[in-house]
Amino acid sequence: MTRSVIKKDVKRKLPPVKSYIQALVPYPPGKPIDELTREYGITRVIKLASNENPLGPSPGAVAAIQEDLRNLHRYPDGSGYYLKAALSHYLGIEPEGLFIGNGSNEIIELALKTFLVPGDEVLSPFPSFLMYSKTVQALGGKNKFIPLKRYRVDLDGLLEGLGPRSRAIIVCNPNNPTGTVIDRKAWERFLERVPPRVLVLLDEAYIDFVDDPECPQGIDYLGTEKNLLVIRTFSKAYGLAGLRIGYGLARPELTDLMNRVRQPFNVNSLALAGARGALLDTKFYNKTKRIIREGKGFLEENFKDLGLPYVPSQANFILVKVPLPAQELYENLLRRGVIIRSMKSFGLDRHIRVNVGLPAENKKFIKALRRVLEE
Ligand SMILES: Cc1ncc(COP(=O)(O)O)c(C=O)c1O
Repeated sequence: MTRSVIKKDVKRKLPPVKSYIQALVPYPPGKPIDELTREYGITRVIKLASNENPLGPSPGAVAAIQEDLRNLHRYPDGSGYYLKAALSHYLGIEPEGLFIGNGSNEIIELALKTFLVPGDEVLSPFPSFLMYSKTVQALGGKNKFIPLKRYRVDLDGLLEGLGPRSRAIIVCNPNNPTGTVIDRKAWERFLERVPPRVLVLLDEAYIDFVDDPECPQGIDYLGTEKNLLVIRTFSKAYGLAGLRIGYGLARPELTDLMNRVRQPFNVNSLALAGARGALLDTKFYNKTKRIIREGKGFLEENFKDLGLPYVPSQANFILVKVPLPAQELYENLLRRGVIIRSMKSFGLDRHIRVNVGLPAENKKFIKALRRVLEE
């Protein structure tokens, strides 16, 4: 028997809810693949919608997790001591400058929780990763969006947008959903000019896929006196999106404050073990980068052939302009067993975002796309 919580005929009052919480729009949830196959009567579905690693998880991570299963009765290592030691060695940075989070999403949230006062303003590019604005709103902050310039993050525009209540600037590099990167000179000029009262949050979720030598890396700028927090993740290049683990890099004064805000065991022990295993698994990491580079080349060639304008990408996904409403294309492709992301929710009604899959998946997507466009 189901004990129903849905009682339409009973009038129930909510406790007082902050107006900015009531105004939040939930993150668009995807249906599980098994549900879709049933609903659409298709046998095989490929998902190229969430910028995940098409190779699966890093085998080194899986082995480390299996080894660690026997310790599940213990609380995790709350300070992330061993993972920080491994990252410290890998990155050449002191453990005090490292912060571990339950996905990089949690680090974004904890940074804003630590430094934002309700009513403060956070500047971010638009379009960019949706969770920035949702997190700011959930914490009672105000979003100020600075439009991209020719699909790129406008660093000058972000500075010009600063006002007396601006507390943080978010820079997504490469930017999701465009895959474009900022240029080193522009970044250095930006860092020089940004006032110390402003936290700069540099989200490098896709930095592992960058080939452009002119793209700066946040880790090279931690020595400045600016308040810089660089965020990275194990979800993409290491294939561990389901495990939920990411890390931040910053001056110890910043990580110290953020450590006061987080839960004592914010990252579970399997995630800590898996991330360490993944860091040592350079074979998987390099294979991922190769398969993404090659797959991106294949997709780009086919977009050219189909006459579809696309934004050259430094990430593991591509933003493509399509000649029909994105939502319609999304549904047509879904019926053919391919899930991509419509960019309608980003205000880009005629754009889709597709991530690089395995070679056979890329082929299946292009074949389905051709069919839909021909119709
Ligand atoms: C730009 C960007 N930042 C952060 C994240 C969140 O990653 P994580 O899985 O580490 O929470 C994503 C996920 O897609 C992303 O696209």
